[in-house]
Amino acid sequence: MKHLAIVSILVVIFTLLTNLFLQSVGLLPVEASTQATIIDRLFNTHFWIISFLFSLITVIVVYSLFVFRRRGDDETDGKFITGSNKLEIVWTLIPLGTVIFFSFLGAQSLAETTIIEPKALNVNVTAGQWYWSFEYPDFEIKTDTLFLPVDRQVKLTMTSVDVIHSFWVPEFRVKQDVLPGENFVKELYFTPTLVGDYTVRCAELCGGAHAYMNSPVKVMSETDFQDWVDTELGSVPQDPVGKGQKLVSQNGCVGCHSLDGSDGVGPTWLGLFGTTQTLADGTSVKVDEAYLKNAIIKPNAQIVAGYPANVMPSNYFDFFDDEDLAYMIAFIKSLQ
Ligand code: CUA
Repeated sequence: MKHLAIVSILVVIFTLLTNLFLQSVGLLPVEASTQATIIDRLFNTHFWIISFLFSLITVIVVYSLFVFRRRGDDETDGKFITGSNKLEIVWTLIPLGTVIFFSFLGAQSLAETTIIEPKALNVNVTAGQWYWSFEYPDFEIKTDTLFLPVDRQVKLTMTSVDVIHSFWVPEFRVKQDVLPGENFVKELYFTPTLVGDYTVRCAELCGGAHAYMNSPVKVMSETDFQDWVDTELGSVPQDPVGKGQKLVSQNGCVGCHSLDGSDGVGPTWLGLFGTTQTLADGTSVKVDEAYLKNAIIKPNAQIVAGYPANVMPSNYFDFFDDEDLAYMIAFIKSLQ
C-alpha cells in the first residue's frame, strides 16, 4: 500500500512535468483559424494522455529498479505468480474504452472542422512543379499570393497540373492533397481568424524543388481585402514590361527562374538577355527574342548545360498566345 501511494504521487508529478515540457517546446505554431482551435484542443488532450502513459511506465520501471533491487547476497527466487483473469480484463477494458473515447473525440472534431458556411469566399488553387497559383472567380483576379479576409470562411477548389502536391498552412492546421485530373478536384474549407503573414507549403514530395514550393498567404481585415481587390481590378498594366511581369507572377514562373540572380531549378532571368549560353549538347546560343520564345513553348529543345530536361511543362503554347509571349520576353529583357 505504501509503494502504491508513493508511485501514484510520483506519477502525478511526472505527468504534470512532462506536459509542461510538451507545452513549452512549441510543437504547435500560433492558432490562426477556427479549425486550429478545434484541432489543438484534440492535440492537447493527446498530450495529457501521452504525459500520463509515459510517466506511468517510466515511474513504475525506475521505482522497481531501485526499491525492489536484489540486496546483499540474497539468491532466493521471487514469488511465483500465474495468470490473473481480473488483471487481464482490467487491462483490456481500460485501453479499449480509452481508444473508443478518442475515436469519438476525433470524429467530433472532424465534424466541427468541416462545417461549411454558406457565404464562403471562393478561390481556385492550381498547383504545379513548383508553384501555387490562386484565382478568385468572383473578381477574375489571378495571383501567386493567397490574399484572404479575416473571419470569413474560404473555400479552396484545388487541382494539380502534374503530380500530387499538398496544400498546407501550419498556422491553419488543415491540410489537403492536391491531385491531377479533373475527376479528382479537391475542396478545403477554413476560416482565418488572425490577421498576419503566413506561408503555404507543399506537404507532398513532388520532385526537385518540393522543399521550395512555398507561397505567401496574407490574412487581412475585410476593408484591406476589399482595397486589394479594387487595386487589382483597377491596375491593369498598360506597358509590355508590366503586362509581362503580371503574366509571369500569375503563372508561377519564378518558382524555378529567380529574378535576383540566385540559382534555381532553371536559369535565373537577371541579366540573361543578350548573353551567350552553352547548351547541354555542347553548342552555344545567343539569348535573344527568338531563343526565349522557343525556350518557353518548346522547353526541351535547347536545354542550357547544367540544368535538367523534362522539368518545365511543355504545354505553355496552350496558355500563351504570341502577344503574351512578347510581353513576357519584354519583361525578361528588362531584367538587366
Ligand atoms: Cu509540390 Cu511538394
